[in-house]
Amino acid sequence: MRLILLGPPGAGKGTQAKLLKEKFQIPQISTGDILRQAVKDNTELGARAKIVMDAGQLVPDNVVIDLIKDRIRQEDCKAGFILDGFPRNIAQAEKLSETLVEMNLRIDKVIDLEVSAEEVLNRLTGRSTCPECGAMFHHISRPPKVSGVCDGCGGRLEQRPDDNRETIQERLKVYMGSTAPLKEFYKKQENLKMVEAKGSVEEIFSNVCKMIDV
Ligand code: AP5
Repeated sequence: MRLILLGPPGAGKGTQAKLLKEKFQIPQISTGDILRQAVKDNTELGARAKIVMDAGQLVPDNVVIDLIKDRIRQEDCKAGFILDGFPRNIAQAEKLSETLVEMNLRIDKVIDLEVSAEEVLNRLTGRSTCPECGAMFHHISRPPKVSGVCDGCGGRLEQRPDDNRETIQERLKVYMGSTAPLKEFYKKQENLKMVEAKGSVEEIFSNVCKMIDV
């Protein structure tokens, strides 16, 4: 099973990808997570990516394309994978298609999670993440049992530097200009499925699973 999750920042791509990963036992490949790890590890890539990410812009295509080409060739991707946050524009989507053709593979479904800009702002300004285990919280919809502390591993919860109002607005603009056109791209390939990302995480997950089974 090879899946792509599309949708604006805060649509719930990461949340749904984690559930799909458990259900199908295939890896979640998040370019955002890979880049944030590089920032945390103080690599040269991380230093360059941080400036772009903090501004809400896209990291250069060649960087993320090379990351994905290597990642999907790894052993744990043999049974499939979930792409979360990639591709982000037509150039990335075309390179992905070329790579999959070379590997004699194809994407089974592209799930487009649709959510309003207002909901995006609510979700992202209230999000906190555990840097130790990656668990995600929201101060209203999924509060941790103890404020600021991860329920799972006890790590100290952090807010992402790009989750402030100004940068979220910029990320939404970038989404509309560069990423939203991918809906047409995948509609033409006839594997795009739209899911309203409103309601509880469980309801949305159930709808995502129905779309995968179609
Ligand atoms: P990335 O990490 O991909 O961020 P994003 O696309 O902006 O998406 P988010 O992670 O913010 O949101 P999400 O849709 O995963 O939602 P989540 O599940 O977390 O990218 C960050 C940056 O990296 C980019 O700006 C760019 O600079 C760079 N980058 C990454 N990939 C790139 C690429 N391919 N090319 C170039 N640059 C790239 O949920 C959000 C919150 O909502 C959480 O608090 C969650 O608990 C809550 N929530 C989830 N579902 C619900 C629900 N149903 N109801 C209520 N709350 C909910």
